[in-house]
Amino acid sequence: MSIKQLLHQPAIGEKVTVKGWVRSFRSNRFIALNDGSCLATLQCVVDFEHADENELKRITTGSCLAVTGSLLESKGHGQTVEIIVDHFEVLGDAPVEDYPLQPKKHSLEFLREIAHLRPRTNTFGAVFRLRHALSFAVHNYFNKEGFFNWHSPIITGSDAEGAGEMFRVSTLPASGGDVAEDFFGKETHLTVSGQLEGELGAMGLGKIYTFGPTFRAENSNTTRHLAEFWMIEPEMAFYDLEMNMDLAEDFLKYCIQYLLDNCREDLQFLDQRFADEQKGKPQNERSEQGLIEKLEFVVSNDFVRLSYTDAIEILKRSKPNQKKKFKYLINEWGADLQSEHERYLVEKHFKAPVVLFDYPASIKAFYMRLNDDGKTVRAMDILFPGIGEIVGGSQREERHDVLKEKVAAVGIPEEELWWYLETRKFGTCVHSGFGLGFERLVQFCTGMGNIRDVIPFPRTPGSANF
Ligand code: 4AD
Ligand code: MG
Repeated sequence: MSIKQLLHQPAIGEKVTVKGWVRSFRSNRFIALNDGSCLATLQCVVDFEHADENELKRITTGSCLAVTGSLLESKGHGQTVEIIVDHFEVLGDAPVEDYPLQPKKHSLEFLREIAHLRPRTNTFGAVFRLRHALSFAVHNYFNKEGFFNWHSPIITGSDAEGAGEMFRVSTLPASGGDVAEDFFGKETHLTVSGQLEGELGAMGLGKIYTFGPTFRAENSNTTRHLAEFWMIEPEMAFYDLEMNMDLAEDFLKYCIQYLLDNCREDLQFLDQRFADEQKGKPQNERSEQGLIEKLEFVVSNDFVRLSYTDAIEILKRSKPNQKKKFKYLINEWGADLQSEHERYLVEKHFKAPVVLFDYPASIKAFYMRLNDDGKTVRAMDILFPGIGEIVGGSQREERHDVLKEKVAAVGIPEEELWWYLETRKFGTCVHSGFGLGFERLVQFCTGMGNIRDVIPFPRTPGSANF
């Protein structure tokens, strides 16, 4: 039986067996056992006077145990029930001299170096259980809204974002060779986005969503970028940008509310962790809200919607721009927004999630629908406090001639995207979609400052261990 089950429906007086890992063992009597099913540990009380001394010595932090005994109401503080142990078996030893996870505070940096063991800590247990719950909420949401889960390929022959940040897939020898001789007979890469193939699905099934790994070979060593991350990409026929923004906002609120409703214990733990971490920061970098408070704020308030053009006006007149505090000063319309600008809008100016739309065509991808002004596209980004861009999406260019021109203008050979262009030739329609970076959502919901700490085994420039 899992500890979670035992704590939620305690079968007082019954004999139970529990298996897990020892968090601590004190006074040769009290074992704190955790099995990962929940944050809480179960106290197991050993009658050391009648136990084999050599076996007792094997109960150390990190060792794996099977414990059998009666479940009783606990007289001690900090727990409601405990097991009075009749019998225990050490399934796996963890010698004290070697085991790196002794019960004391470890830095997140150190835990990253032992990513194979960090799921056994309170923090990472909570983060990965919440990651699971969020993933479940994503599927729940789209299923109830009538979307179909669609599997876009991971190996592709096209650059979906046209940004050229792709990992090559090849079976040619490292010394190189003729592309025609390569496995697929052409150059292929790991996908940067499942969107283009997602659009093909939406043009037949109506509403689809992908939830898969995506890969970017961008050399960004930041707390928000991974080389391998998971993305959720819904794509909907007959949706314009307005409807796309409504869906994204509703979807994000649903996922966050799901955690508030179902993951209280882990959230409370991370809320405390977040509060402690804030105390160590300089006053001006501290979050004004607690973690749970932030989540509650997002679900219960409308996101601010603002055109790129209006955002530029606010940024131009902003204090950090006037006082030249931004690293990249905003001088004119057309400037690409950096994370310092996005965070200013969200954290200082509006103090709420912001949806920016109608960006200059020149700074956005080729597939976005051109507005009648000829210079902006129907793009939208959702910006979150502490995170910056969490969602990027758009209404797609559905006009064959306009799309063909844009593909040519960015220099993509038509042979590479003929199938994409054909959807505009045959039964084209208004359609839209967006991409949510799953790890950025997990970051927001757990309050973890570094994206490397919300995925079990992060891949970043220079690092692909485990
Ligand atoms: O804005 P992006 O590049 O948009 C797309 O890929 C579109 N094809 C999505 C669509 O319309 N279907 O990426 C979408 C989101 C970003 O907003 C961000 O949350 C996340 O993916 N993201 C990353 N997350 C972690 N590490 C990276 N290197 C990321 N790059 C983007
Ligand atoms: Mg983007």
